[in-house]
Amino acid sequence: MVNKKLFIVCIATFFLLGGTLMASGPWIEEIDEEDSLSFPVGAFEIGAPDGVEQTRTSVAFPHSRHLTYSCDTCHHTWEYHAILDNCTASGCHDLTSAPENAVKNGQYTAEGIRYYKYAYHKMCRDCHRDINAQNRAKTKTTNIAGDTDQLRNGPVGCIECHPAE
Ligand code: HEC
Ligand code: HEC
Ligand code: HEC
Repeated sequence: MVNKKLFIVCIATFFLLGGTLMASGPWIEEIDEEDSLSFPVGAFEIGAPDGVEQTRTSVAFPHSRHLTYSCDTCHHTWEYHAILDNCTASGCHDLTSAPENAVKNGQYTAEGIRYYKYAYHKMCRDCHRDINAQNRAKTKTTNIAGDTDQLRNGPVGCIECHPAE
């Protein structure tokens, strides 16, 4: 019993000291966790929400390769404080199958875009398609073969995003 208490005191002291050491830098004031955001800089996997049986592989999304765009290009409801909802949060793109009347005149309806798959395809694939078209147009007007190295395309084909297993 006594040993257990001593152990807890040791642990507490360790963290207290650690905390003091970490906060000792003059360049940054202590930041509240509630005021912080953990930004994923590598590629992370986007898969289907719970309850959906995936028919395709998950998509490796290189988040930081997209930072030439402002955050709200994609996080369009984010209010720039710590809490950032998932795309599939309740009331957002939370449908796990296509509703009726999801498409009208070749466009997703407001109801249709709540289906998470349509939301991702519209956002990800449509931007890539537009960028690639712009790149093709630039290649034509500049007419310099080597110059196209500067133009980065985004994937539009199914297996480019959902690689075959
Ligand atoms: C091209 C689209 C795009 C851009 C631009 C973008 N993000 Fe993201 N980000 C995503 C997607 C998609 C996710 C995964 C969301 C999910 O899991 O529902 C994500 C995830 C995140 C997460 C993790 C959220 C969590 O659940 O932990 C954070 C934090 C984040 N983004 C911050 C930012 C910030 C800050 C910027 C701007 C500097 C930014 N993002 C720019 C698409 C983007
Ligand atoms: C607003 C435009 C835009 C949006 C939205 C966007 N992308 Fe991109 N994406 C790009 C551009 C431009 C590139 C090429 C950048 C580069 O290669 O550095 C790219 C590159 C990529 C690549 C890299 C391919 C490679 O060569 O390695 C992947 C994968 C990708 N995007 C997936 C996604 C996914 C998944 C989403 C949606 C969650 C998404 N993107 C949303 C513009 C966009
Ligand atoms: C720019 C990347 C991108 C491209 C291109 C793309 N998808 Fe997706 N797709 C996604 C993302 C992101 C999701 C949501 C995450 C998930 O469920 O895998 C998704 C989800 C899906 C889903 C629902 C989940 C599942 O596995 O059953 C299907 C089906 C699908 N895509 C099929 C396709 C087909 C078919 C094509 C080509 C016509 C295609 N996708 C092209 C990014 C892409």
